[in-house]
Amino acid sequence: MSETVAQTFPGTAFDYFDRSTHHLVERWLPVGQWFHDRGAHGLDPYQKSFNGKISPRVSGAMRDGEGFVGVNFASQDYLSLASHPDLVSAAIAAAHEHGVHSAGSAALMGITSVSKELERSLEDYLRFKEVTLFPTGWTAGFGIVKMLARADDHILIDVLAHACLQEGAEASGAKVHRFPHLSYEGVKRRLLSIRKDHPTSGILVVTETLFSMDSDTPDLGALQALCREHGATLLVDCAHDLGCLGSEGLGVLADQAMVGQVDVLIGTFSKTFASIGGFVATQHAGFRTALRACCGPQTFTNAMTPIQAGIIIAALKLVRSTEGDTRRAKMMANVLRLRAGLEDVGFRVLGNPSAIVPVVVGASGEARRMTTAMLRSGAIVNLVEAPAVAKNQARWRLQVMADHNESDIDAFIQIAVACRSA
Ligand SMILES: Cc1ncc(COP(=O)(O)O)c(C=O)c1O
Repeated sequence: MSETVAQTFPGTAFDYFDRSTHHLVERWLPVGQWFHDRGAHGLDPYQKSFNGKISPRVSGAMRDGEGFVGVNFASQDYLSLASHPDLVSAAIAAAHEHGVHSAGSAALMGITSVSKELERSLEDYLRFKEVTLFPTGWTAGFGIVKMLARADDHILIDVLAHACLQEGAEASGAKVHRFPHLSYEGVKRRLLSIRKDHPTSGILVVTETLFSMDSDTPDLGALQALCREHGATLLVDCAHDLGCLGSEGLGVLADQAMVGQVDVLIGTFSKTFASIGGFVATQHAGFRTALRACCGPQTFTNAMTPIQAGIIIAALKLVRSTEGDTRRAKMMANVLRLRAGLEDVGFRVLGNPSAIVPVVVGASGEARRMTTAMLRSGAIVNLVEAPAVAKNQARWRLQVMADHNESDIDAFIQIAVACRSA
């Protein structure tokens, strides 16, 4: 593919939104067409599907049907639990015992005995008084941020925080202040100025334990102390490290001696826990009753199914077992080999060792060309471009699994070198 073709699709999807028509659906058609045209030139690596089970080698198809097969660094199955026999058995057992449907929202009668058991297990694991399940991590993040801060309140949010947190902040009606990524000083400066002018406003500070585009981490102890000093509430999303990093799988919270110590913890089961669902945890017994009644994704959407809850209970048991320790160690050995191998051949790898290995591949045109070349050569990757990351900082967000082996990793690196210079 020529360099010129690779450069022919400038901008981001949102640049193609057509404001010239008042037809609300038709406005989006040029966006779809832009992706379609990219696909026709082999420059659209999104909306892939896979066959069979998620594993270190996978086959599947691009959106246009072109097939691929190869080493898989594009799935969020960090401890390789997606087909673990304990989880499969738990799913079958839950279906037999409880049926397959929750049949209602948590505010009405969608709570099951399995989901209640999961909440108790998570309270014990996370060292929080109360854990409340959500149908997905996205709804947990969006719902809790929107519920906690109201008009006249203030939200300070890391500029790179996940879309569910950003959209919840925008939807809340509170004044949103974005602070520079990981910046303690940025939070402090804003807290001082907001408190001076608004002594009685609520202030919510929002961050993550491990940022998924950069694999980096804030100082949670310092942020929590700062929030206490200024009467603010700290909310932390632990989507990508819970279960797969740290002692007992307690992630960055364990590494920083902050287990059970942040005001509000939220997370998801869609990465390490091989399921769908999210949670909100606090030390306030009784908050759940208000949450169930006054948070959109508790009240107006169905609760997680008994099958999902059963799978997550089984995943949590594994995460807390010696098998969990072994899988975490295996995953980390893979991460270190992949990071070192990519750096040795000149790739720029961001952040700290975690299941996510972000590799900068540069400007969008070249990044798209390289990504398609990778998929066609047997290295399955996800590309992340602007606006999800800064312009000219397009990257592969590689996701490592416990079940990858050394030859998967070495094959990936070899293909990456070949595609870089193709
Ligand atoms: C930081 C963060 N929060 C929340 C979510 C949403 O989780 P879920 O997939 O359970 O909706 C994600 C998933 O990508 C995430 O990365």
